[in-house]
Amino acid sequence: MTVPIPPGAWLGLLGGGQLGRMFSMAAQSLGYKVAVIDPGDHSPAGSVADHHIRTDYLDPTGLAELAALAAAVTTEFENVPAAALEYLARTARVMPSAASVAIAQDRIEEKAFLSRCGVAVAPYAVLRDDADARSADPALLPGIVKSARLGYDGKGQVRVHAAADVAAAFRSMGGRACVLERRLALASELSVIVARNEHGETATWPVAENRHRDGILDVSIVPARVPEALAAAAQATATGIAAKLDYRGVLCVEMFVTAGDALLVNEIAPRPHNSGHYTIDACVTSQFEQQARVLAGLPLGDTRAHVPAVMVNLLGDIWFAGADAVSPREPDWARVLRHPQAKLHLYGKKEPRRGRKMGHVTCLAPTPEAALATARQIKRDLGIPGADGP
Ligand SMILES: Nc1ncnc2c1ncn2[C@@H]1O[C@H](COP(=O)(O)OP(=O)(O)O)[C@@H](O)[C@H]1O
Ligand SMILES: [Mg+2]
Repeated sequence: MTVPIPPGAWLGLLGGGQLGRMFSMAAQSLGYKVAVIDPGDHSPAGSVADHHIRTDYLDPTGLAELAALAAAVTTEFENVPAAALEYLARTARVMPSAASVAIAQDRIEEKAFLSRCGVAVAPYAVLRDDADARSADPALLPGIVKSARLGYDGKGQVRVHAAADVAAAFRSMGGRACVLERRLALASELSVIVARNEHGETATWPVAENRHRDGILDVSIVPARVPEALAAAAQATATGIAAKLDYRGVLCVEMFVTAGDALLVNEIAPRPHNSGHYTIDACVTSQFEQQARVLAGLPLGDTRAHVPAVMVNLLGDIWFAGADAVSPREPDWARVLRHPQAKLHLYGKKEPRRGRKMGHVTCLAPTPEAALATARQIKRDLGIPGADGP
């Protein structure tokens, strides 16, 4: 049995983005000190952590410094080099394990793993060379060619319609391994975040219903507007995947719902997830606090929601007054803050860019419909497209 790490001790973090920032804040609330490795001069997590090690993730001095300081280390992004996790695991408790991260880093490994779990995935084929791309099964069209590694927020994906498009799309990825996935008619998208500790105890949060725009999460609605049995099945699927991975930490499972309430798993993220940001304001224990609890060997916190919530992502686009604007200006946050149950979170990123996640707003209300109404108003007021969507 692991001895809990007492407050006052250092927890280590690989990655300086917004997920790391919110983890740092939660860990600091519990009394821990946080040391983060991130190569950037200025990073969302680096600017709130107690110590920022500004080196590459594989830099021996940076890793040695973190190893000397922290009894336990976690990560906030799946593309952290496995070698860094393995090095740190020699002296520190590392969650998630390099093995779990490796599966989520590669769509081919991930889909093979999910199939071994007995979980349904979208029909797909692996493309490793031009010949694979030229002979792709027409039953997978229209489809999406997704690079096996390093894709996020819809990057590293090309939509294909005809057989000839597949080879072109494959070449446009530089000939790196890809999957071709059939494009499905989605009734909805769901995600489940699950925490699992080293005793195999698990906790899931309420299921989120996710709306994407241009491949990037736009809105999460909680609880998801799906039948209870489907929500329960989604939670059971996520818990099952965490158990199969012998996972330690916080894991997100993204799912597709197709006609007739069929549930398919899209992908897994070995970390807290954008669709779980609502847990900060709406739940007894947030996904970030839970990440710190599991890492420190503390008991799992209650994951119940106090209140329905709708989270709206704030992308850099709204810093630009129109499609042609070249210089950014600060959005009018009064338009958010005038709603007393809208909770604004900004990540402290210096440079707003179109498509870049700059912050989010969580709208709380007694019903999901009322939270959605506030979210739509805020989207309209900030100039976020799709305010009148479902
Ligand atoms: N096979 C598919 N059919 C329909 N929509 C898809 C499919 N694959 C991806 N999408 C859409 O694109 C979004 C991003 O794709 P995803 O595979 O999750 O990549 P990322 O790693 O960028 O999140 C999904 O959430 C979904 O909205
Ligand atoms: Mg995704």
